[in-house]
Amino acid sequence: SSQNDFIVVSNRLPVDRVIEPDGTAHWRRSPGGLVTALEPVMRASEGAWVGWAGKPDLELEPFTEDGIDLVPVPLSALEVERYYEGFSNDTLWPLYHDVIAAPSYHREWWEAYQVVNQRFADAAAEVAAPGATVWVQDYQLQLVPAMLRAQRPDLVIGFFNHIPFPPYGIFAQLPWRRQIVEGLLGADLIGFQRVADAGNFTRAVRRLYGPTTTKGTSIRVPSPDGGPERVAIAKAFPISIDVASFEELARRPETIERARQIREELGNPTTIMLGVDRLDYTKGIRHRLKAYGELLRDGDIDVGDAVLVQVASPSRERVAAYMQLRDEIELTVGRLNGTYSTISHNAIAYLHHGYPREEMAALYLAADIMLVTALRDGMNLVAKEYVACRHDDDGVLLLSEFAGAADELKNALLINPHDIDGLKESMVKALRMPKKERASRMRSLRRRVRENDVSSWSDSFLSTLRQSADAARSV
Ligand code: G6P
Repeated sequence: SSQNDFIVVSNRLPVDRVIEPDGTAHWRRSPGGLVTALEPVMRASEGAWVGWAGKPDLELEPFTEDGIDLVPVPLSALEVERYYEGFSNDTLWPLYHDVIAAPSYHREWWEAYQVVNQRFADAAAEVAAPGATVWVQDYQLQLVPAMLRAQRPDLVIGFFNHIPFPPYGIFAQLPWRRQIVEGLLGADLIGFQRVADAGNFTRAVRRLYGPTTTKGTSIRVPSPDGGPERVAIAKAFPISIDVASFEELARRPETIERARQIREELGNPTTIMLGVDRLDYTKGIRHRLKAYGELLRDGDIDVGDAVLVQVASPSRERVAAYMQLRDEIELTVGRLNGTYSTISHNAIAYLHHGYPREEMAALYLAADIMLVTALRDGMNLVAKEYVACRHDDDGVLLLSEFAGAADELKNALLINPHDIDGLKESMVKALRMPKKERASRMRSLRRRVRENDVSSWSDSFLSTLRQSADAARSV
């Protein structure tokens, strides 16, 4: 077993398997911001990434891709069903997003979650050098920190939750709430997107362990075997994107040309509105369509003059709530197009597939109004990508108050997606906003996004982690 000084553990490995036309298979780095941010750290410190390769029943040896050691964790088809689709995405996901959909509680899913979390912890423990730093990512792996600490007390352990952490009144539904909190408290530093999420977590700790266990961001963690207590820190670290690379992409002449072409292909409308989401019930796509449909009905928007482009990338397609959502969205899109489209112009261009970053950058550049109407969202990186691409200081961002990004992007048009009239008013305001106001808002948004890019996010998490671990050790 190799010995790595820095290890990232996440449900998915940062690579996709690509099958060439001639049948040969290889791996390609997936374009996520997390990999980009951690790559320098990985290279400088013998890094390894522990994760699932994304397909059931795939037993793979560790391999190296672009200088990063990848350590695949296998999942059986039944584990994919119970740990990934079940407990992660049909229990925790809806529970942590304000129960927008009803969470399902099944004891056999919880069993699988524990077994799989233990497998990830074992895999990380196996490759970790003495005193190594291990950074565990997201809600699929909340038990890993304590499992790791139990077998490797020498490690520095960080955890970052990419999705919201719910208020205790909601979290308390979870039959295994105590075990989850205990799992997370195995980390030296537990990071959240928003100050509110960190607050919800420390309140959950107080409810479960007593009122004197937390003080500000620090938590006194009892030792499982009656030994001395440790200190863990819970704090907000809002994540971001690789701002420079999006901006560079959007400045390329071919991207600018593609944006012009997109407008032309859409019939050169006055206004292009854009939505870009995983097809997920947390994203408020229905609310967006409702508002847009009413604006069409009332004549506030004319087809041909305006168009809504909705990119809805396929996600978690075997989970029932996602199948239902897809049916509902596609019914609504079909009805709106049937009612309002003309032979030459569609009311909505609906695209149920993902696109490469190049095409996304062109779409962002082409879009006059970006609609982010999430009912609840940890951060929403689409909002930041849109802003990063708008080097022309144009375009209007409509942003839900319920997305973590709203804490930073105060100069967007902030909306409550549940308030359909308010949403319509903001859409009309965006349609009519004078160029000067668009430019001044966008300039201020761009400053905010530039200030905190994904490498400053990982730098500040990792330096706080080192400090917390040092402090915990000197107690
Ligand atoms: C969210 C989660 C990630 C997850 C991603 C895609 O952003 O925070 O952990 O990887 O959605 O979902 P999937 O289930 O396809 O990994």
